[in-house]
Amino acid sequence: MSIIEVKDVTKSFGERQVLKGINFTVEEGEVVSIIGTSGSGKSTLLRCLNLLETPTTGQIFYKGQNVLDPNYAANEYRKHIGMVFQQFNLFNNLTVLENCTVGPVKVMHRPLEESQQLAIKHLEQVGMQDFLNAKPATLSGGQKQRVAIARALTMQPDAILFDEPTSALDPEMVGDVLAVMKDLAEHSGLTMIVVTHEMEFARDVSDRVLFMDQGVIAEQGKPEDLFTQPKEERTRQFLERYLLDKN
Ligand SMILES: Nc1ncnc2c1ncn2[C@@H]1O[C@H](COP(=O)(O)OP(=O)(O)OP(=O)(O)O)[C@@H](O)[C@H]1O
Ligand SMILES: [Mg+2]
Repeated sequence: MSIIEVKDVTKSFGERQVLKGINFTVEEGEVVSIIGTSGSGKSTLLRCLNLLETPTTGQIFYKGQNVLDPNYAANEYRKHIGMVFQQFNLFNNLTVLENCTVGPVKVMHRPLEESQQLAIKHLEQVGMQDFLNAKPATLSGGQKQRVAIARALTMQPDAILFDEPTSALDPEMVGDVLAVMKDLAEHSGLTMIVVTHEMEFARDVSDRVLFMDQGVIAEQGKPEDLFTQPKEERTRQFLERYLLDKN
């Protein structure tokens, strides 16, 4: 059974239909990258997956159960799905360690000490163990994002959704964050859905790539197929534009 299955999901804001019938599945442990032009609906799709937005129509199944069913315990579902945002969304008044333990303690009702130990383990995993008592304001963007990843991991989620986690970073910070994500992709068994403009990451790390254009998944496939022999003209154009921008 797929861990996540998205069926005919649409999302409108007023008159404007932003998602126009999205269908895809994600298997347990799979790393899926979502690429596409600005405004194509990538963030809206992630926000729907995580129920930060409610789809207008369609279904989202998590381990076979429709999370949009009014009887489904949506709050339980949310605990299993982590999110890492472009703008970090850390609590600025809390230390690095407290940022990581507040969710497990307040939301999951886990003991503080156990949560701290788990948080320290994950902060070590992202190379931030020397900053336990630092406040976010004193950290670089790359360090903040690594804390945000450790915070998501401390919730012990089944899947983490990443929305352009490196787009707000200075170029010299991008590599550190991508290295952490690559390590997670290759060694943690975590299911990851990553909206990204980092084509090398999408190509080298993901199991599957979805290309979004104007509210639909225009094409999806294995990275080795999609990047070298795209079937759709608009995928080709997007990739060409990206290659031009790079050079
Ligand atoms: N809350 C909202 N209310 C109205 N329109 C919205 C809302 N959120 C998103 N939109 C619109 O939906 C469209 C898709 O936005 P979305 O943020 O999902 O695109 P995106 O693919 O993530 O783009 P980018 O690459 O720039 O992040 C945009 O035209 C945006 O203006
Ligand atoms: Mg976006």
